[in-house]
Amino acid sequence: MIDESQLRRAAALLGRVTNLVAFTGAGVSAESGVPTFRGAEGVWKEFRAEEVATPEAFGRDPKLVWEFYNHRRNRLAEVQPNPAHRVLADFERRFPRFTLVTQNIDGLHALAGSRNVLELHGNLGRVRCTGCGRVFDKRGERLGELPACEACGALLRPDVVWFGELLPQDVWSASLAAVEECEAILVVGTSAVVYPAAGLVEVASRRGATIVVVNLEPTAASELADVSLHGKAGEVLPALWEELKLIATP
Ligand code: OAD
Repeated sequence: MIDESQLRRAAALLGRVTNLVAFTGAGVSAESGVPTFRGAEGVWKEFRAEEVATPEAFGRDPKLVWEFYNHRRNRLAEVQPNPAHRVLADFERRFPRFTLVTQNIDGLHALAGSRNVLELHGNLGRVRCTGCGRVFDKRGERLGELPACEACGALLRPDVVWFGELLPQDVWSASLAAVEECEAILVVGTSAVVYPAAGLVEVASRRGATIVVVNLEPTAASELADVSLHGKAGEVLPALWEELKLIATP
């Protein structure tokens, strides 16, 4: 059950802002059938991150790493955006300034119609050449066990951020700039424990921005929240959207 009074509070707070950042994590895509990372059914319960999601692992056993990512890539072909993604695309049209910063690599925000999306951890649909550095969009295509670059023949890798790697600096700078200017941040479906991404909520909090958290359970971001809405993102966000519609815009 969604707490109606908290929902109205969140809508009242968000209703008056003109510059909003949404910061999302795996929980937003859970209802699309994309597994989250932590928790009982999480990806990191089945696989060790050190064995499939680090540059060292790729150097040691690229076939194993590709097997892991090819499995996830192939599953992506079957998943669709859910109401949470779609409402966030509606938010972009409602707020004069809106930036969606996501840790997700599934590309579902863009598929749902969001335009101003900053993908902090890359995108599973893309590959990057380990030789010439070129990036190719291969969403929906089946890749071989050890895919090679069509330009130079070197080994391709998924264009995602692995543990121990730098975030794409342009994306990070744009995300930081967005939270440094926003009046409110809506934190959805993330455990908010992976840095530097999770630090964005702290930056917003230090600046006094309004923080609304939407999650199944309390998270590291909840302590900083002005309002916490507990429930499924695909139910809470549409309900929040309906409340927001009742608020007159300036
Ligand atoms: P996590 O798996 O750590 O957290 C997902 C959060 O979503 C949890 O707090 C869940 O309670 C919540 N959740 C699950 N289903 C939900 C639903 N239907 N509605 C709302 N909330 C729900 O995923 P992230 O926080 O995204 O990084 O993980 C951050 C990063 O850690 C990922 O980007 C990935 C991972 O290791 C890299 O691979 C670099």
